[in-house]
Amino acid sequence: MEVTTRFLVVTLLLSFAATSYGSVTLSSLNGTALIVRVTETNNQVLKAGKDSITVAWEFNQSYPAGTDSVYKTVKVKLCFAPISQKDRKWRETLDLLKKDKTCSKKIDARPYSASNNKVTWTIEKDVPTGTYFVRVYAFNEHSAEVAYGQNTNTEKNTNLFKVQAITGRSVSLDIASVCFSAFSIVSLAGFFYMEKRKGKSSK
Ligand SMILES: *[C@@H]1O[C@H](CO)[C@@H](O)[C@H](O)[C@H]1NC(C)=O
Ligand SMILES: *[C@@H]1O[C@H](CO)[C@@H](O)[C@H](O)[C@H]1NC(C)=O
Repeated sequence: MEVTTRFLVVTLLLSFAATSYGSVTLSSLNGTALIVRVTETNNQVLKAGKDSITVAWEFNQSYPAGTDSVYKTVKVKLCFAPISQKDRKWRETLDLLKKDKTCSKKIDARPYSASNNKVTWTIEKDVPTGTYFVRVYAFNEHSAEVAYGQNTNTEKNTNLFKVQAITGRSVSLDIASVCFSAFSIVSLAGFFYMEKRKGKSSK
């Protein structure tokens, strides 16, 4: 079983690494073909490296039966909501998927199945503080995107969740302790200065 799983993972990785046609645009895809749900929504704040999200997806049965016959694999991705892309060109949304930076973090990759798909993912430590949603892409046998679904609306402003990065917290802690030390040194220096002055004037 384990060998099979490993083989599957390697095969999946290889097939994703293989160059897809590279000119697929998001707007050319059916964006509601997969129904995606994330348990953690409503701007819930989750801690990177500690908290997890649960993502479930299925084929949208309103599409004609067989539409998904070309879907071979899926990739589940963590995506920046527009509010976390503002003034950050390196997270820019581009229609050309090869260049798009909206969804750079992979949550899962596996063979396509029309229903009963679920993954629980602990938010990795390197996920930056921000507001996110989840998108699932379906790929064909040539590893080209053919459809997707996301747990938010087209404007990407509903059902979002927030991640609080660890680094963000330790950096602010560091800043706080540096400020505190600086304050202590200054007050200590001030104290000695006052003492010296007192000593002089009393002489
Ligand atoms: C989108 O879905 C329709 C069926 O509703 C299908 O005919 C069409 O080929 C799909 N488009 C793509 C790009 O897969
Ligand atoms: C399922 O697909 C139909 C037809 O494209 C669409 O109107 C509907 O919004 C989709 N459902 C979901 C939950 O995305």
